[in-house]
Amino acid sequence: MSTHKPNPHEKIEKNVGLLVVLIAVAVSFGGLAEIVPLMYQAEAIKPLPGVKPYPALELAGRDIYIREGCYNCHSQMIRTLRFETERYGHYSMAGESVYDRPFQWGSKRTGPDLARVGGRYSDDWHRTHLLNPRDVVPESNMPSFTWLATNTLDGATVQQHMRALKRLGDPYTDADLADAPAAVAGKTELDAVVAYLQQLGKHAPKGG
Ligand code: HEC
Repeated sequence: MSTHKPNPHEKIEKNVGLLVVLIAVAVSFGGLAEIVPLMYQAEAIKPLPGVKPYPALELAGRDIYIREGCYNCHSQMIRTLRFETERYGHYSMAGESVYDRPFQWGSKRTGPDLARVGGRYSDDWHRTHLLNPRDVVPESNMPSFTWLATNTLDGATVQQHMRALKRLGDPYTDADLADAPAAVAGKTELDAVVAYLQQLGKHAPKGG
């Protein structure tokens, strides 16, 4: 004879459907605890002062940065750790990248983080470096991107990208769209990537 008294938990364990639903409810508390406070945290969703959608040339440069897979070796996310802020500068803020779609934070660092690289080198340094990194950093294993110097930008494509971003809510004006082709006319992909790199970190809060 059995003295086993069914306890209520046994009902749940023996009913797979009910178990699945209750697990989903339990797990969702973790998600809610992380997501809901963010919805009310203005700092995380509003641009920092001065942060605007990318001008045409920089936006084209960003698209090339993504096309060439620079993010496979470079993060743009300085963590709140002392050895990071001492090396790179102020830690990254969410409000810096509200117009980055998709954001380029990443975590893979074959090369250094680039979140604050703007202004650290001259335009000429970047040009030389992108065409053949060994010319300025002899031990570099970064690939050469020689074709950037000869490929020219297509104004209509850049304008199209800006229009798409505007539709998603980025505050581009009609004048920004109309002026885009002229802003990139005759420019090479190298010009665009250098313009993009040189503005990285422009809106970082001052100090480490
Ligand atoms: C295979 C990995 C790899 C890829 C892909 C790569 N890089 Fe690099 N990058 C490096 C390494 C390693 C360094 C450090 C040595 C040097 O300065 O060349 C570096 C350095 C840099 C630096 C100088 C950073 C500093 O603070 O000194 C810049 C700027 C840069 N890369 C931009 C780019 C861009 C733009 C692309 C895409 C067009 C790119 N990299 C693609 C590996 C890579």
